[in-house]
Amino acid sequence: MGLVTGACLAEAGHEVICTDIDAERIAKLRAGQVPIYEHHLDQILVSAGNAGKISYTADAGEAIRFGEAIFICVGTPPRPDGSADLSAIDHVAQQIAAEARSSKLVIEKSTVPARTGIELQRALTAYSRGGNGFRVASNPEFLREGTAVEDFFHPDRVVVGVEDHAAAEQLHEIYRPILERKFSCPVHSGKCPDNKAEFLVTTISSAELIKHASNSFLALKISYANAVSDLCEKLGANVEEVTHAMGLDPRIGTQFLRAGLGFGGFCFPKDIQAFISLAATVGVDFEILKAAERVNRQRIDRFLEKISKALWVVKGKRVAILGLAFKANTDDIRFAPALEVMRRLLQEGAEVHACDPQALEKAMNQFPLAHFHEDPYQALQGAHAALICTEWEQYKKLDWEKAGKAMARKLIVDGRNLYSPATLRELGFEYVSFGRE
Ligand code: UDX
Repeated sequence: MGLVTGACLAEAGHEVICTDIDAERIAKLRAGQVPIYEHHLDQILVSAGNAGKISYTADAGEAIRFGEAIFICVGTPPRPDGSADLSAIDHVAQQIAAEARSSKLVIEKSTVPARTGIELQRALTAYSRGGNGFRVASNPEFLREGTAVEDFFHPDRVVVGVEDHAAAEQLHEIYRPILERKFSCPVHSGKCPDNKAEFLVTTISSAELIKHASNSFLALKISYANAVSDLCEKLGANVEEVTHAMGLDPRIGTQFLRAGLGFGGFCFPKDIQAFISLAATVGVDFEILKAAERVNRQRIDRFLEKISKALWVVKGKRVAILGLAFKANTDDIRFAPALEVMRRLLQEGAEVHACDPQALEKAMNQFPLAHFHEDPYQALQGAHAALICTEWEQYKKLDWEKAGKAMARKLIVDGRNLYSPATLRELGFEYVSFGRE
């Protein structure tokens, strides 16, 4: 999300220079190519580029010397024990200490465990031998993939964790155009919703904790809905009726209660693990999050059980996987449930035909034994089952009458509860979903 942050800050009027360890990525950006699929990003990169507000360099030193404020947006992937790998942050700290020629505000944007800011401050001081007077702040991002640009311009809250008033002032100044809506947001072309974001100043550790606690809570909410969904199946209730009614209580809210294949992506799975791991380092057993993680892992087993039960014998069957991305409107397949489903079906000897509107290219390299199609109807041709793994709008609107004629068996196992069971059954399909009869 570093590129989104850079692009949006440039669009908001700041002078931004982006750097990355991947020189090829920088070359692409300089050539006007956008290396990730993110709605509106291409548009704002062009407009910020034309306004001369954003530039790119593979020379980290140049980028470090350029700005008064440096946002660190590097990855913090999980280590084998679930804790966050902070080596990229440490590497950037060494670069900043070596390359900076003046005082800088160094802002952690990456999701990091609490106390990272304190360690970062210590590291910057040590690496620079006390020079340059670096100040550290935490500014967690709450951007969802697919709507990241919109989320940046219309945040619910901007959280800044600081140690001194001056850092809070500087960050307020950076976010002022967004907080005060001083410019026309490119997402809504002048017709922005008028909710105002709160600017929250906290300690650095609180800011770091806010991010992990928020993401883990959302993941917990999804797992709760999934546990309720399993219960609905046993008791003959309908999970959508249950979660909808639950959500109308404003203390609960309707969002993030969609049952199905569970959560994936590069945030929830790793953040929940990192939070459990952080808690363990201070002697807290975060049991409730361990349970949420377990429930999520079991979603794949539950889905495969449904497939096996419906198909009887999986080996030799031709199955179509609709959706590979971890959610709709992104090409991101990191920790995507669909990939694990695909891996296990291939292992069982199924012939897998997969499609996705954006993520095909990324998935192809990882699965030489699977077949890939851009057109969902081609993937469904001759299939014994259609497996819905991502909630793409295109798949919601699929013409199942047409698809059914091309399939070898009219069976849908829906991991995202996209369709009305009654409608699909009227079309002659066997239809299996989560928490609904
Ligand atoms: C998340 C947070 O929402 C965002 O604030 C943070 O900055 C980064 O992590 P993101 O990873 O882009 O964003 O995805 P999100 O939209 O939150 O969905 C996460 C996963 O949960 C997806 O796999 C999605 O399919 C799944 N999900 C979501 C459900 O299974 N049910 C739901 O009700 C909602």
